[in-house]
Amino acid sequence: MKRRTFLRGTTATLGLALAGCKPSDDPIDSGDTSETGDPIVPSEFQTPLPVPGELTGTLDNGRLVFELTAQAGTTEFFAGKPAATKGYNGNFLGPTLRVRRGDDVTLRVTNNLTERHVTHWHGAHLPAAADGGPHQVVNAGEVQTSEWTINQLAATIWYHPHAMGLTASQVYDGLAGFFIIDDDDADALDLPKRYGIDDFPIVVQDRRFTADGQLDYTLSMMDEHHGFQGDHFLVNGAIKPFVDVEAKQIRFRLLNGANGRTYVFSFADGTAFQLIAGDSSLLEAPLTMTQLQLSPGERGEIVVDLTDRKDDVLLLRDETAGGDLFEIRVSKEATATTTVPASLITLPRLLESEAQRTRPFIFSMMAGNFLINGVSMDMNVINEVVPVDEVEIWEITNASAMLHNFHMHAGHFEVLTRNGIAVGDWERGFKDTVFVGVSEKVRILVKHSDYTDATLPYMYHCHILEHEDTGMMGQFTVV
Ligand code: C2O
Ligand code: CU
Ligand code: CU
Repeated sequence: MKRRTFLRGTTATLGLALAGCKPSDDPIDSGDTSETGDPIVPSEFQTPLPVPGELTGTLDNGRLVFELTAQAGTTEFFAGKPAATKGYNGNFLGPTLRVRRGDDVTLRVTNNLTERHVTHWHGAHLPAAADGGPHQVVNAGEVQTSEWTINQLAATIWYHPHAMGLTASQVYDGLAGFFIIDDDDADALDLPKRYGIDDFPIVVQDRRFTADGQLDYTLSMMDEHHGFQGDHFLVNGAIKPFVDVEAKQIRFRLLNGANGRTYVFSFADGTAFQLIAGDSSLLEAPLTMTQLQLSPGERGEIVVDLTDRKDDVLLLRDETAGGDLFEIRVSKEATATTTVPASLITLPRLLESEAQRTRPFIFSMMAGNFLINGVSMDMNVINEVVPVDEVEIWEITNASAMLHNFHMHAGHFEVLTRNGIAVGDWERGFKDTVFVGVSEKVRILVKHSDYTDATLPYMYHCHILEHEDTGMMGQFTVV
């Protein structure tokens, strides 16, 4: 009989970590169906961290071809209770796509679901026709093809569904994956880059489960307003997994893959780490931090130095509600060393003084509808027409009573200010998603280059998926 063992965390966050759980219950015997439908809580840190396999493509006539299938399957989040899930080429989540700057890629996604689907390449700089937005949706049984030339800096981007009104539920069921772009500049740096050894993709997502271990996506009024808030936290699809690592610098490519929650990551014992990359690029220099906030869709790559920590155990924690998420066991001798350089890359920055105009985006909520500039998403309306190669300031104002963030397709931006104050260095890499708190005004600098299309739009939206699905999204063309 599994006893719930909750005592690994420090008492400070124990209450948060246990929200929704009742330690005295024994659901196996009692058939407990408490309000959260909490099924058997697995023993903590007994499941090996799943590391998604890498797909490097197949060369065909000079193009690198990737085949993905969006499909239904089952996943045992709780032993003996297979849950209905969705995944790419598998049961939950998907393989890590790995490409290099300069590659001509063809990505084919077969829709083996029973509903509409399209896969969006979040963070990719690409033509609108390849974006995988709601206009590229395919029916069940059909194949989506996206083709472009990888033309952006090394970054950890990702992919996920984007069919109008179905994004939140399909992501929730498991459709999401990493997409890593390499380039010579990043390769030249002495960073941990042995995938699955000292370089791990880590996606964190929160979910609710029914008593029989099924994913529960019943939205309360709270969920509809604030975005879905789960009470179990998945790390690469597993609840409280562990990983054995070498006593050296270890890199985690953190992705907030949640529908609605913003996380604040830290190590439980306060161990500092270096932030080396944001959403769409490396930072110019590593930044030493002890906490990193990521809102849905944002990425942050961190390196933690475990060189002198042999036989130690660290816990990656979410300070907000998740508690201790996964256990890092420094159980192996280093088989190589790395030293994060004091400077990483020089970003080709834009100048604010070059901006030709300021484009306002005002987030509001009225009569239960989420609006941007007073309107909700209409597939037939192009909300903004953006001239190619012109520098613009986009000014995002949160005039609602809840958190949002802002994600822009097609490219990256630089964050200038939040409420008039220059943002911290941690937000100073190239980004595609930015947090916009209550009453905040965030100014970003952007230039859309290389691809124009007078009719096919890109999207901008709040990446709280329940907000996006209910209309907090708009469309822009680049002409
Ligand atoms: Cu990750 Cu339009 O989204
Ligand atoms: Cu996107
Ligand atoms: Cu929102």
